[in-house]
Amino acid sequence: MTKNRILSGVQPSGDLHLGNYLGAIKNFVSLQKDYECFFCVVDLHAITVWQDPKELAQKTREVTAAFIASGIDPNENILFAQSQVPQHSQLAWIFNCVARMGWLNRMTQFKDKAGKDRENVSVGLFSYPNLMAADILIYLATHVPVGEDQKQHLELTRDIAQKFNNDFSTDLFPIPEPLIFGEATRVMSLRDGTKKMSKSDPSDYSRIMLSDNIDSIVQKIKKAKTDPHPLPATKEEAEKRPEALNLITIFAALSDQSTDTVLEQYSGKEFSLFKKDLADLAAEKLQPISKEVTKLMSDQDYLDQIMKTGKDKAIAVAEPVLTKVYDIVGFANT
Ligand code: AMP
Ligand code: TRP
Repeated sequence: MTKNRILSGVQPSGDLHLGNYLGAIKNFVSLQKDYECFFCVVDLHAITVWQDPKELAQKTREVTAAFIASGIDPNENILFAQSQVPQHSQLAWIFNCVARMGWLNRMTQFKDKAGKDRENVSVGLFSYPNLMAADILIYLATHVPVGEDQKQHLELTRDIAQKFNNDFSTDLFPIPEPLIFGEATRVMSLRDGTKKMSKSDPSDYSRIMLSDNIDSIVQKIKKAKTDPHPLPATKEEAEKRPEALNLITIFAALSDQSTDTVLEQYSGKEFSLFKKDLADLAAEKLQPISKEVTKLMSDQDYLDQIMKTGKDKAIAVAEPVLTKVYDIVGFANT
């Protein structure tokens, strides 16, 4: 039986943080044996907001390095940069003509990112989910591991696949399933437990970066917002205390334990003690990754070779799918 196929993407729009790691990359590592995997550094998505051209290629390498340093085997999986496989953009244009304005108008990520400045954001930021659908469907991927924040975009991908299949009376596209799992599918800001941890938060203290040294990890966790009560006894109680719940779920995800097990161990204890253990745990898990990223980044040729091999393998799969799509849509084959 052929393996099911995964595609997922991460933007090279800044350094990676703990949310990217726990919500996405750590899960990629655990899925790689059971699926045929395409992991893509989505540089076309990154330029929907301004990126410094002097830094973009290096940031793309950095995400590739983080994949490998986290435990993704570059020989068994296909790692590549989105811009290098033109079929993504070609399919995205067709999806621009399949998806409806009304569907995209409902995307909460666009509303959050555009804010009050809607007239001034790029058209790409609005049509972003159509490109994401193309990333997935150009490989006929069946499963997509992502953090919770991407769920709505995945639903849109499913709608696009369905509408294309219906409009053109075909069964070409599978209806891909999101894979959202682990104890930390939505890691929140360390400064505000109601906001997700993100690259764009102005406060450095809101997030732990994969590249943080031990001192920064300790400082950020020490300063993380909590309430004056000791740790809760149950998950129900924790759910009413978002900052507490966030730190507990981060601990659970990093230590591969359930939230309930962590609560059993720490219920009634003071946050000062818990935070010390959490900082030790985070440093123990993240330091080897950041050291490995630094090492890999010193060998640019190696990373470029990985991405070149990935690009060739990706094109070999994407090209025949695009040919079928062109044929289905009815383009002249000249
Ligand atoms: P991005 O950096 O926006 O390209 O996100 C890459 C991956 O990380 C996606 O699968 C996101 O869903 C995931 N991700 C980003 N931020 C978080 C977060 N705060 N918690 C959990 N997952 C996240
Ligand atoms: N939009 C995703 C994010 O910001 C990144 C992404 C682009 C992606 N294409 C994808 C994720 C395809 C999964 C599948 O997090």
